[in-house]
Amino acid sequence: MLGGAVAGAGMLMIGRSHAASGVRPAGRQPWWKEAVIYEIYPRSFRDSNGDGIGDLPGILEKLPYIRDLGVDTIWLAPIFQSPNRDNGYDISDYRAIMPEFGTMDDFDRLMAKASSLGLRIILDLVVNHTSDQHPWFQKSRAAKDSPYRDYYIWRDTPQGHPPNNWPSVWGGSAWASDPATGSSYLHLFSPQQPDLNWDNPAVREEVFSIMKFWLDKGVAGFRMDVITMISKIPSFRDMTPEELKAPEYVYAAGPHLHAYLREMNDRVLSHYDVMTVGEAYGMRARDIPLFTDSARRELDMVFAFDIVHVDRQGWRKIDWPLSKLKQVYAAAGKPRSPDSWNTVFLDNHDQPRAVSRFGNDSPPFREASAKAIATMLLTQCGTPFIYQGEELGMTNLPFSGVEDFDDVQVPIQWEARVKRQGVDPDAFLESLKDMGRDNARSPMQWDATRNAGFTTANRPWFRVNPNYTEINAQACMQDPNSVYHYFQALLALRRKYPALIHGTYQDLDPDHHAVFLYARELGRSRLLILMNMSDRGFTYESSSLTRASLLISNMQHRGATQGVTWLEPWEARIYRA
Ligand code: GLC
Ligand code: CA
Repeated sequence: MLGGAVAGAGMLMIGRSHAASGVRPAGRQPWWKEAVIYEIYPRSFRDSNGDGIGDLPGILEKLPYIRDLGVDTIWLAPIFQSPNRDNGYDISDYRAIMPEFGTMDDFDRLMAKASSLGLRIILDLVVNHTSDQHPWFQKSRAAKDSPYRDYYIWRDTPQGHPPNNWPSVWGGSAWASDPATGSSYLHLFSPQQPDLNWDNPAVREEVFSIMKFWLDKGVAGFRMDVITMISKIPSFRDMTPEELKAPEYVYAAGPHLHAYLREMNDRVLSHYDVMTVGEAYGMRARDIPLFTDSARRELDMVFAFDIVHVDRQGWRKIDWPLSKLKQVYAAAGKPRSPDSWNTVFLDNHDQPRAVSRFGNDSPPFREASAKAIATMLLTQCGTPFIYQGEELGMTNLPFSGVEDFDDVQVPIQWEARVKRQGVDPDAFLESLKDMGRDNARSPMQWDATRNAGFTTANRPWFRVNPNYTEINAQACMQDPNSVYHYFQALLALRRKYPALIHGTYQDLDPDHHAVFLYARELGRSRLLILMNMSDRGFTYESSSLTRASLLISNMQHRGATQGVTWLEPWEARIYRA
């Protein structure tokens, strides 16, 4: 047992006696099952030229930092030309780099440098919709007989009335009436994001050709934005009041979704050794294998939304018992089909910061809870996704009023919920503060200098979290007990113990209100993961711990005697049983 100075944050005890760490499952495993993926939101990562906006050379500069963390794949949120209504999720040219982010030469240099460091890069494929500034839409809207008319979804109605009662995902009608021809077009997101008509084979050809363009440049795959919504239900019937509460389930119920994904796989993906992860918005857990079962040749993985729903009901944040979170993981840990693979994520560019949400970001608990959550993230079943700054324990941003938000979603929701539906503005603001997407979008905190070392500009494009003087990468580097070093140690442990990747999953104490204890097992290798997910310390007893030896902990180590142990608030440990 190690103790003393090295114990604490990154306390990692992999002794020689542990050489037999379990066998890998037979057969060659696809690389993405063993990958750990780091998401970059380029706008907020690192500004290299002092214009206040993160860019590709900034990412290039920080590649060694990412590699040293121990991840192997990077997902870049959209880097393509865009008017930035939705920060790049509204694309006006799929083959051009957003000028603010740099040039195609910068991209090629980034790819080359990443590859020299052993890092793969995947891109964000945003093809449910384009920007309204995309030439396809410009031509489509110009005239009813334009060859591009059918690239989008148009309906004619008297006086520009919406053709049905469909709401956009963020609120308000999903239809916008367009003066040029007097028709309305469908937009499931903002009016500046018109939906493509995937039933038109020409649209699918365009998408496949865009995919090939980037794959031929060597990218290692795609994260596919709201890919579940590409096929629309043909009747375009009104939704029932029940359906209107969660319209995403109707939007993801299109009859051709799986056929289109299979076509994409046959035509494009199957010709490359790449990975895909689809954003499965509006999908129920039981339908996930329809995408990920390898025999169906659609996608490799998807992001399911169950975890995101644990503390959310509609726009409201709700209290949640730990059992609810455990149920999500227990369901995911049950092998649905031998060939189906999961993702694990807590943070991304659409979610509030995990430490503020599932942990406790107040100073006495922030680091310990960020580490406990990291322990969970990196030991559940599936390929883990880390979001920039999560490895520093970055927290939610302080907001005072609705005007502090930058997110395009906020004014649309405010108009729909507060102004039209009469939701109490204070309650809505409170929920925005907790759940708003901008929490994740503030600049990366590199050091304690002005603007957190993100930019030399006087004003970054978006506010820096004032806690950067304490929470930043440089401080983490210097502190052997930092959240960063703990992530690093966990990632090393994952590489050493295949049970953490390929092992079975068993929740050993599903009813405990504060302890999360589970086993991952592969062959003769059995690991126990133990976390106190609360602000209180207490004595805990479990016979599973009797003969277990500690591999890593986020606290000074205390042994378990006869399976009885004291757990500090947010203490996390991994044992070899
Ligand atoms: C996805 C993206 C989100 C974007 C939306 C519309 O949910 O993650 O950021 O706003 O799709 O493209
Ligand atoms: Ca810049």
